[in-house]
Amino acid sequence: LSAADKTNVKNVFAKIGGQADEYGADALERMFTTYPQTKTYFPHFDLAKGSAQVKGHGKKVAGALIEAVNHIGDLAGALSKLSDLHAQKLRVDPVNFKLLGQCFLVVVATRNPSLLTPDVHASLDKFLCAVGTVLTAKYR
Ligand code: HEM
Repeated sequence: LSAADKTNVKNVFAKIGGQADEYGADALERMFTTYPQTKTYFPHFDLAKGSAQVKGHGKKVAGALIEAVNHIGDLAGALSKLSDLHAQKLRVDPVNFKLLGQCFLVVVATRNPSLLTPDVHASLDKFLCAVGTVLTAKYR
């Protein structure tokens, strides 16, 4: 990520602010609906629309993204524990991170259209890809 990318990503999350949890939950809900195969990782969840579990998980995902933004120069360090979890324990197929990333972008686009200029879109896409790369870096 270039310096401009980092600034763009920080600005997006500053604008989203306290609504980040809802963005996270919306992105999950959209992923489960648009790409139902992603539901296979959550057999123990109630995935009905508006479910408390999806909302709770959206909050966790948003929290991790905020943590990543706060340490945008050291994503691998900031997400190290989550990387162990996703790559070694959950063994989520890397393709799914692209799907969730796309869904998050669409949520930003629909909730806050003016925010997502082409430049910001590109920066946010790079950031979400970088997060996905870190979370899938520890397969063995
Ligand atoms: C758990 C973040 C992508 C499947 C978690 C947790 C966080 C997180 C913070 C909770 C960890 C804990 O409780 O200690 C993220 C981020 C992602 C991402 C930031 C990408 C931007 C994915 C994808 C999948 C997935 C693409 C599969 C489609 C899971 C599962 C759990 C989990 C199954 C455990 C849920 C539970 O039993 O509570 N993730 N995740 N994650 N994640 Fe992800």
